Amino acid sequence: ATLKPKIFITRKIPTQIINQLEETCDVSIWDDEYSPVPQDVLEEQIIDADGLLCLLTETINKELLEKATKLKVISNMAVGYNNIDIATASKKGIIITNTPDVLTETTADLTFALLMATARRIPEASAYLRDGKWSTWSPMLLTGQDIYQSTIGIIGLGRIGEALAKRAKGFNMNILYHNRNRKPEVEVALGIQYTSIEELLRNADFVCIMTPYTTETKNMIRKEHFRMMKNSAIIINTARGGIINEHDLYQALVDKEIWAAGLDVFEQEPLPLNHPLLTLPNVVTLPHIGSASITTRVKMAEVAATNLHQAINGETPKNMVNK
Ligand code: DGY
Repeated sequence: ATLKPKIFITRKIPTQIINQLEETCDVSIWDDEYSPVPQDVLEEQIIDADGLLCLLTETINKELLEKATKLKVISNMAVGYNNIDIATASKKGIIITNTPDVLTETTADLTFALLMATARRIPEASAYLRDGKWSTWSPMLLTGQDIYQSTIGIIGLGRIGEALAKRAKGFNMNILYHNRNRKPEVEVALGIQYTSIEELLRNADFVCIMTPYTTETKNMIRKEHFRMMKNSAIIINTARGGIINEHDLYQALVDKEIWAAGLDVFEQEPLPLNHPLLTLPNVVTLPHIGSASITTRVKMAEVAATNLHQAINGETPKNMVNK
């Protein structure tokens, strides 16, 4: 009998998807929902695996990749793939895939939700009521920033950035964007305006980080950039933590250089509970839930399984990210 290809799945994903993969593959799984696979288990599994289906919580570095003897594919169940050393993988002929498209609208929804929650201080207001502090309606109690007709600055006009612009349009916002390359057709279609980073930061009421995390975008927003922003400005990050310098962000908030921040992603995840950002009432923090709708997460698992399957079968997967 021919041996089935061996695949390792690094977390519990929906059962129907595991079952499908089991029809053609010999599947091992780190069957835990809420704790990442220990590095030594991953190291052991990768040695003779043909395929790996992993999450952004797994660091797939050079050291790990060097242990693999027959690995054909790493299918990341995320659109971002900064957790994987693509250069080493490519050198070893390992295909890397991601899960774009299926999470675009869901992540844009969450980005806009976080923008609104931060502007209107929703978590703070909710806690205020539950903590028994609500004694009367009061003219300036828990007052926030207007969203309708304000200016949004979108840094990174990819799929999710564009989806965010569409939402902003519904709120009659003035939309500025910055991107590696201009997108004239999108500018016309959505009525949005390209600016330099500096001009965007100076004019935006809301600065939204929508870029991938790369060597170019690492630490892209730091001290000098917060200085350029309006004192009433709100920064929103649903991309990756390291794009904003968190230390400088904290300082900018303390110095009232900017007004508030809404963060779904952090340099270190999970965010340590003693992190200085958690001492500030004007920071809304979420545990990396941008794509977390039931439908979208199932779709992401399906796309990840399809990519894995295609690569194992010698086809070029739809969502291959190696150049
Ligand atoms: C991604 O896909 O990169 C998100 O961070 C999780 O959906």
